[in-house]
This record gives sequence, structure tokens and C-alpha cells, in this order.
Amino acid sequence: MFKYLLSTTFLVLGISMIFITYYPLKTYAEENNVTKKDFGKVLVVYYSLSGNTRNIAMRIKEKTNADIYEIKTVRKYSSSPMIYITAKKEMNPKNYPDLKEKLPDFSQYDLIFVGSPVWWYTVASPVLSFLSQADFKEKTVVSFATHGGNYGSFFEDFEKKAKNANVIKGKDFKKVLKENEITLNNKISNWLNNLNI
Ligand SMILES: Cc1cc2nc3c(=O)[nH]c(=O)nc-3n(C[C@H](O)[C@H](O)[C@H](O)COP(=O)(O)O)c2cc1C
Repeated sequence: MFKYLLSTTFLVLGISMIFITYYPLKTYAEENNVTKKDFGKVLVVYYSLSGNTRNIAMRIKEKTNADIYEIKTVRKYSSSPMIYITAKKEMNPKNYPDLKEKLPDFSQYDLIFVGSPVWWYTVASPVLSFLSQADFKEKTVVSFATHGGNYGSFFEDFEKKAKNANVIKGKDFKKVLKENEITLNNKISNWLNNLNI
């Protein structure tokens, strides 16, 4: 009987501890999954080769209730290390990669996010190709980048290439897929809530 009481007490204690530890974290994360701001009709444009930029794009989409447009290239990239050589070549406007799909109609959006991985310290060539075809016609565009530790001149270069846009320098995200889920969610929510739009 004593043994039974003891094990039941430990079981109840254990369950309570798990609940006390995880419940506030969970509700905090859920509360932080929405933006307090109303940005109007939002479009999130992104290119992603290995998932990092997609991860951020999807979170922005969820938090702002946005439409999404993925930039896709006609030719597939080979795996590392060849990709570094190809990417370097494609930094030249003559070698920008062909895109698979036509560009979205920007006119229906109030705010456009554009996300890219950093390639060679600047905007990745599929996004450079996209920007070379896009005319944002006085739209507000927020850039964001994912990278491994050095984003170089990404934001300055992006601003120069986004034709007719009112560019708001966005945020860089380092090693996204290694980031803690809750930290990442909160980082994005704080960023969106503090955007000066
Ligand atoms: C061709 C190539 C060049 C890269 N150049 C840089 C760089 O200059 N600086 C950096 O911090 N990371 C660099 N990276 C790492 C990527 O920016 C980083 O892994 C990014 O988050 C990848 O995004 P994705 O998963 O959406 O494709 C490079 C990666 C590739 C494939």
C-alpha cells in the first residue's frame, strides 16, 4: 500500500513538473505567433536551396496571413562544391539563371517581403534574376536574408537592385535550421511588430 502511494505521488509530481515547465513556453510561443500590426495584403517572395530561407518565409506568411511566391530556376543546382563555382559565375547579370514561372502581380499587395540566401556575400543569383525582371512601382519591399555568418553587402545590394521600390532594410537570420524554434518565432514576431511601416 505504501509502495503504491509513493509511486502514485511520484507520478503526479512528474506530470505536474512537465506541465509547469512546458505550458508557459507553449502559450508564450502561441501568443507570439501573430503580429499585432495590420500590414494589409502581404506577399512573401523567397528563394531557397536548402530550406533556411523557406523556413523564415513560411513563418512570415503565417504571422502576416500573406500569399507566398517561391522563386524557382529552370536549371537545378548541383550539390556542393560545384554550386559555389556556378553561383560565382551567375553573379554576372549576363549569367543570371532563367526562372521557371512568371512574376506575381505586385499591384494587388500593400507590402512585399523578399527573402534570399546570401551567396558570395550578396543576394543569391535566382533572386538577382527575379529583381532584374521586377518593377515594384513604388511598393514597399522588406528584404530578409539567411546566411552562415557573414551577409556582406547583401542589404545595400538588394536596395540597389529592387527597381522603384521603397525598400525597408529587413533582417538577417544566421544558421536558421540550427536555431531554437521558440527563439526563432519570437525573433520574427518582434521584428515584424517593430517594423517601421
Ligand atoms: C553558393 C553559396 C554561397 C554562400 N555564400 C555565403 C556567404 O557569402 N556568407 C554566408 O554567411 N553564407 C554563405 N552561404 C551559406 C548560405 O547563405 C546559408 O546556408 C543560407 O541560409 C542558405 O539558405 P537556403 O537554405 O534557403 O538555401 C553560401 C551558400 C552557398 C550555397
